Amino acid sequence: MHVAMVMDGNGRWATRRGLPRAAGHRAGAEAVRRVVKIAPDCGVTALTLYAFSSDNWTRPSAEVSMLMRLFARYLRSETAELAGQGVKLMIVGRRDRLPHSLVKAIDAAEQATASGTRLELRIAVDYSARAAIRAGTLLPDVDLLIRTGGEQRLSDFLLWECAYAELWFTERMWPDFGAVQLAAAVHEFHSRDRRFGGLPNREAV
Ligand code: IPE
Ligand code: IPE
Ligand code: MG
Repeated sequence: MHVAMVMDGNGRWATRRGLPRAAGHRAGAEAVRRVVKIAPDCGVTALTLYAFSSDNWTRPSAEVSMLMRLFARYLRSETAELAGQGVKLMIVGRRDRLPHSLVKAIDAAEQATASGTRLELRIAVDYSARAAIRAGTLLPDVDLLIRTGGEQRLSDFLLWECAYAELWFTERMWPDFGAVQLAAAVHEFHSRDRRFGGLPNREAV
């Protein structure tokens, strides 16, 4: 099952605690670690995480460069662990606007995890679904789309691939997301009747 997540709410999580937004992004990276570790046990075979949208370049440059450094640090510190967990890591989105050091970290992480078969982990960085559709770089269909942070919108994420995705929204901010919430979302997913335009399945009527 392919689960996609819009990891929203890092900044508000921090602001509510009187912390700088950067602290929220760091806490968000911890949430990524937790979720990646637990995802296969929830039946997730592909996980796509929205980390930075092409529209996020409009944020203050200090926040943008902090995020770019955080991505590179995450990749360098997690690669061995991910490889050990059988995770195949792929970064999706544009690379030509990313710092050179980040591109190098991406290449190294992708190479080191290329043989993983337990979980396909895609992290979307400088990603725009509209641009991806125009370029024909499409991902597998999404089964379940989760968005944290209270907003109920896609924000240019996987517009094509979510054609029949089940949508699950939570008020919880991304740094507070973990195993319990993922299990709850997957549990609810299995109780939904996916009709794909057909008729209700008998058990659900
Ligand atoms: C999501 O958290 C992470 C990124 C978009 C990089 P935000 O930074 O959007 O947090 P809020 O929505 O401002 O709380
Ligand atoms: C969506 O969050 C992008 C990511 C989580 C990476 P945003 O915070 O950028 O979305 P909007 O601005 O609320 O739509
Ligand atoms: Mg946001």
